[in-house]
Amino acid sequence: MQALSRRLVQQQQSLSSSSSISSIKFIYPLSHHYCGADRPRYDSTLATRGVGHLVRKGTGGRSSVSGIVATVFGATGFLGRYVVQQLAKMGSQVLVPFRGSEDSPRHLKIMGDLGQIVPMKYNPRDENSVKAVMAKANVVLNLIGREYETRNYSFEEVNHSMAEQLATIAKEHGGILRFIQVSCLGASSSSPSRFLRSKAAGEESVLKAFPEATILRPATMIGTEDRILNPWAHFAKKYGFIPLFGNGSTKIQPVYVVDVAGGIVSALKDDGTSIGKVYELGGPEIYSVHDLAELMFDVIREWPHYLKVPFPIAKAIATPREILLNKVPFPLPTPAIFNLDQILALTQDTVVSEKALTFNDLGIVPHKLKGYPVEFLISYRKGGPQFGSTVSERVNPDSFP
Ligand SMILES: NC(=O)c1ccc[n+]([C@@H]2O[C@H](COP(=O)([O-])OP(=O)(O)OC[C@H]3O[C@@H](n4cnc5c(N)ncnc54)[C@H](OP(=O)(O)O)[C@@H]3O)[C@@H](O)[C@H]2O)c1
Repeated sequence: MQALSRRLVQQQQSLSSSSSISSIKFIYPLSHHYCGADRPRYDSTLATRGVGHLVRKGTGGRSSVSGIVATVFGATGFLGRYVVQQLAKMGSQVLVPFRGSEDSPRHLKIMGDLGQIVPMKYNPRDENSVKAVMAKANVVLNLIGREYETRNYSFEEVNHSMAEQLATIAKEHGGILRFIQVSCLGASSSSPSRFLRSKAAGEESVLKAFPEATILRPATMIGTEDRILNPWAHFAKKYGFIPLFGNGSTKIQPVYVVDVAGGIVSALKDDGTSIGKVYELGGPEIYSVHDLAELMFDVIREWPHYLKVPFPIAKAIATPREILLNKVPFPLPTPAIFNLDQILALTQDTVVSEKALTFNDLGIVPHKLKGYPVEFLISYRKGGPQFGSTVSERVNPDSFP
């Protein structure tokens, strides 16, 4: 007991006497291994360049208060769940605008302490409703994006106009300290893909409206809900092969989705160095499309079978949807594999450029894909997840009835 009080007195003496932080530290004595309110890891522009009073307390965990109140547009998507989880686990409040059913943000609610994840219904086309979901925030993240067009939404509207609108409203707000725009690796005004051109236009408009914004360009993201390995595995299970556009030699640099979420949070927590900068977030290895497909076949324990589809034929198969989209009076199916725009994007290699700022500059070492990041694919094994734990047990699709 005496030792404890001696320690408390020592702690009290070592802490500065005036600030409210010191009383917090007294209540929650901090070990040097944790990131506390005065630890560099916990530093952020929110503290150094913030406007107004930001209360931060605790050891940096889920029940702490990070001071970040983030509106995450696009939180209901694939990347969104990992971003919300990482923000929530450091004690941030996350406002989740959603437009669909009440169920779409439900899985996010348990990621934070009670009341920390706040779903808010909004209409992206109604400026007042966008303002309302941003009103209480000090940080805005834009994860909205779509790689195919619908009758309702064009690439231009989703990837460019919406981003521009959010950045403009965030600037007018006056209290938004950081704006993170998630774009896409390969975004360029000269890309053959309209999606990538609209992403590039989105980046430009965001930086114009909110010059302090940070732009992150992730490569193709891999993870449990991804939209590359899942459709491939699904297709392979159903038909025993997958189509490879060109000869599958296009180079890509797929990245684990959790690393991208980590990159976003790192950019938010830094001392302001990422303000106004563009980062290209690719994985540690460059794959050809064929090599990535081999990895998928390996994990699902099937012998690889491909149908090589030359680009002109792939385009011919995918084009009718694009032509008919706004001509028929009903919605057309979502293109999972034969997406014209993605086929066009695949006519060029998409890898992190040499001079770009990368994960390294955000203090993150991205994971290799082989291993945990692709383990979710075991659910596609024909004999159940445990089947084919050794490669020799791999099923030959020719042997199926
Ligand atoms: N997935 C990848 O491999 C990849 C690679 C590079 C870059 N990116 C970019 O990273 C960001 C996040 O990707 P993701 O894979 O998480 O995308 P996602 O799963 O398709 O989620 C997209 C999010 O944007 C919202 N959204 C889409 N269209 C909208 C619209 N018209 N109005 C309002 N909200 C809309 C969706 O809301 P609903 O749930 O209501 O539809 C969802 O929350 C996107 O900007 C994407 O372009 C993705």
